[in-house]
Amino acid sequence: MFNKDIITAFEQKETPFFYYDLDLLQATLKSAQGAANAFDFHIHYAMKANFNERVLTVIQQTGIGADCVSGNEVLKAIEIGFAPKDIVFAGVGKADKEILNALDHNISAFNVESVQELSVIADLAKASGKIAKVALRINPNVDAQTHKYITTGLDENKFGIKTWELSACLDVIKENKSIELIGIHFHVGSQIVDMNVFKSLCVKVNEFNSWFDERGYRLKILNVGGGLGVNYNEPDKESIVDFRKYFEIFDHFLERKAGQEVHFELGRALVSQCSSLISKVLYVKNGIKKNFLILDAGMTELMRPALYQAYHKIESLKAIEKKDRSNTSDFTHYDVVGPICESTDCFGKEVELPLSKRGDLIAIRTVGAYGEVMASKYNLRDEIRYVYSDEL
Ligand code: LLP
Repeated sequence: MFNKDIITAFEQKETPFFYYDLDLLQATLKSAQGAANAFDFHIHYAMKANFNERVLTVIQQTGIGADCVSGNEVLKAIEIGFAPKDIVFAGVGKADKEILNALDHNISAFNVESVQELSVIADLAKASGKIAKVALRINPNVDAQTHKYITTGLDENKFGIKTWELSACLDVIKENKSIELIGIHFHVGSQIVDMNVFKSLCVKVNEFNSWFDERGYRLKILNVGGGLGVNYNEPDKESIVDFRKYFEIFDHFLERKAGQEVHFELGRALVSQCSSLISKVLYVKNGIKKNFLILDAGMTELMRPALYQAYHKIESLKAIEKKDRSNTSDFTHYDVVGPICESTDCFGKEVELPLSKRGDLIAIRTVGAYGEVMASKYNLRDEIRYVYSDEL
């Protein structure tokens, strides 16, 4: 991802910053769109993964839709240029003003997460003289085999409608002309790398699809959510996910009835690899048991390691030019940490890196998804800085 010219350009910039490789973003989107088109599948980009304006603009231009989880995300999507017919609004706790705002913009669907929410949407739509299109988010109790903090489709999770509540949903739908049932929606978790999880999901979707069909509801949309994982260990080996392999599973295992569309809400798989967090070594601290590299980036820029014990590859940009590792004494192990007053502010433990010094550039890879969007102002840190590949 980094050549000598890029590294020289980085040296002139104030760190830390998020570097965006817009060519890689374009290539990833093209690959995802191409694979989806082959099966006549539709993608909505899960905006929560990254709502950087330049990233959103590139995505909007490809014709992919937007999956939003707050009223502000809906407004942002519209501001960027996504057509309301391509916007869906999900989220376990939609406030009245967010619902009204989305109704006002005639978005394509609300992904509804409870019987009570369904009634509230029906009432608000009626009061606004609108018909709200709804998809029911069902909790299918499928284990995503991922970190427990990013698992969403189990009975113990707060997300989705429990299967025994579906009849009550149909009662609300029958009673209210202000809502129209257009589909069912699922999302079982994130960073899923075991493709069997998606097979199990398909089996469940088929069961629910038939359940509705038997009751006289031919659903227009089967929305299977997102969750496709990426390669954090070797970002350069697999900079673009194998979208075809992923979509093939749904093509093979999902039983579409006549006229049904299949929708996906991918976030991470579209944007992860196009960004790295570039930081400088502030201090090198040699302890008795540990050596520390103290960076100028911290958990305030990238929260994932502190929050989920997530792994991100850490590279010294000095090492990119120094490929000869025959002299192992040039390398050592460091705990790579940030400057924030928290012990969890650590990007990686015992990371093997070339002997480093103050001022060396360090890249933390695969941060395009759930990176800058989860940044915080803790310790009154600077605003996030960005560098885009077309500016270098
Ligand atoms: N659809 C729904 C309903 C979701 O809740 C999510 C993510 C997605 C789609 C997109 O999932 P993706 O394709 O990106 O896996 N902050 C965590 C991830 C939280 C995911 C939340 N939901 C992390 O950094 O790993």
